[in-house]
Amino acid sequence: MIPDSLAAALAGAGDRLGGFRERIRWYPEVDSTNDIAMTLAETPGAAGAVVIADAQRKGRGRRGRIWFSPPGAGVYASVVLPPPAAVVSFLPLAAGLAVAEGIEAATGLRVGVKWPNDVYVPGPGGLGRKLAGVLAEAGGSDSRPSNVVVGFGINVLRSVFPPDVADRGTSLETELGRPVDGALVLVECLASLWRRYRDLHDGRVADVADAWRARATDTIGRRVEWDAGGRAASGTATGIDQAGALLVRTESGTARVIAGEVRWY
Ligand code: BTN
Repeated sequence: MIPDSLAAALAGAGDRLGGFRERIRWYPEVDSTNDIAMTLAETPGAAGAVVIADAQRKGRGRRGRIWFSPPGAGVYASVVLPPPAAVVSFLPLAAGLAVAEGIEAATGLRVGVKWPNDVYVPGPGGLGRKLAGVLAEAGGSDSRPSNVVVGFGINVLRSVFPPDVADRGTSLETELGRPVDGALVLVECLASLWRRYRDLHDGRVADVADAWRARATDTIGRRVEWDAGGRAASGTATGIDQAGALLVRTESGTARVIAGEVRWY
């Protein structure tokens, strides 16, 4: 049974939810909304399915990390989308952008994106603290995914974070200093995700890339380090290309970083 606050927010968004509108599933507690969505993704007619939970027992972050998911403390949601032809590699960035846009639409808080798809609150002279993250996973084979699952988590309440993330994470209520309607944040993110997905699907990749760049101004020009096939590489981030790769100026030319962990300085 969808909670009243979520039902009201969904009704308010109406058609802006596009193909998600009639496909919402809500659970009080799950291991991981991405796990449920990945199972759904293998079934016919799964496109557009949305899995939302109030809590996750085994919330997953990128690169095998745990995503702290206590009851009612955050937004935990995953959607199933058919890969937008030719631009599937841009979908994770588009999802990070959509989450940033949804947060801003619901709360007015200005947030930035950090490659590939972190959402953060800028801090004085630096990258500030992480507010939300996206975990995109492919169903089927990696080269020909049948559906893509895009999961996103947003910290809403002033929860006590585990020590390893306490100094890097933040929440909407911490930043805004007031109660926040998590259901409204979730629904605005879904509406923005549908819109950005349609942009990619209909060939407006340049629009999505421009909007992403406009939110990444704190990261462009920064020094980055990454692992280039077992070798430590570094340079200055200069932007992204139309495939969503991070472009980095190095001593030997421009490198394209397409996956993996990037450390920002
Ligand atoms: C990251 O920044 O590391 C990505 C975090 C993604 C967390 C979300 S919460 C909903 C969905 N279910 C999961 O298990 N993970 C994603």
